[in-house]
Amino acid sequence: MTNKKNLFDLTGKVALVTGASRGIGEAIAHLLAAYGAHVIVSSRKQESCEQVAQAINDAGGSASAYACHVGEMEQIDSIFAHISSEYEKLDILVNNAAANPYFGHILDTDLAAYQKTVDVNIRGYFFMSVAAGKLMKEQGGGVILNTASVNGVVAGDMQGIYSITKAAVISMTKSFAKECGSLNIRVNALLPGLTDTKFASALTNNEKILKGALTQIPLGRVADPEEMAGAVLYLVSDASSYTTGATLTVDGGMLA
Ligand SMILES: NC(=O)c1ccc[n+]([C@@H]2O[C@H](COP(=O)([O-])OP(=O)(O)OC[C@H]3O[C@@H](n4cnc5c(N)ncnc54)[C@H](OP(=O)(O)O)[C@@H]3O)[C@@H](O)[C@H]2O)c1
Repeated sequence: MTNKKNLFDLTGKVALVTGASRGIGEAIAHLLAAYGAHVIVSSRKQESCEQVAQAINDAGGSASAYACHVGEMEQIDSIFAHISSEYEKLDILVNNAAANPYFGHILDTDLAAYQKTVDVNIRGYFFMSVAAGKLMKEQGGGVILNTASVNGVVAGDMQGIYSITKAAVISMTKSFAKECGSLNIRVNALLPGLTDTKFASALTNNEKILKGALTQIPLGRVADPEEMAGAVLYLVSDASSYTTGATLTVDGGMLA
């Protein structure tokens, strides 16, 4: 039964957030914990995850840390074996960790950059969703949220292969939503615009690029990572109980 007074309540839920050691993922982890979820903080570096988990616990929330490189299949197996034995369920998966190793002309993309971007952003999101979906099927439902990007809709300059993978994430969101709806698993995507994180620093630290980007953003500024987290809370909570296969753009109006 939905709690009508607090559609956003996540008490009793177990949530896994990838790429949660900093940036958008860290902000998401903090907000989901503030709304009652136990959050498993994940990235490639255990120590960085432990620091975020500690900060959540210090703030009165509940969190643990478990490292997982989502571009490595055996590490995906390992984190889901851990989740099955430790929690016996997963209510929420936030696929947020992504790679963007190459910034340059698409014709100069080398195989290593191509492979890394595809392995992390497509294969990683895909098999994390498969593993989560199997657990969610057993328990009668769950929610998956994929962090895509506005670049999945409008190709980013000098970010060809990255933009292609983000378009794939949008398509993946729809495919999983379609086939998993009857299993009571909802799957949606967040499309962030330019957000002030390490990931975007090649753009935000370059005065010329930043100035050009800001002319495309009606709100006239870069987002704070915290400004992405509210949209994620909506999409993983009962507030969005009839929403699946959708994309929610949070871009200061850029795509408009
Ligand atoms: N910032 C933007 O302007 C922007 C715009 C649109 C979309 N996005 C999307 O937002 C998401 C988060 O990006 P962000 O801006 O918050 O970046 P960020 O601050 O650089 O954080 C990236 C996070 O991902 C982790 N990570 C990187 N590679 C990983 C891998 N292979 N396996 C597991 N974890 C990995 C990093 O930690 P470790 O180094 O410890 O692994 C870190 O926690 C990404 O999907 C990105 O595409 C960002």
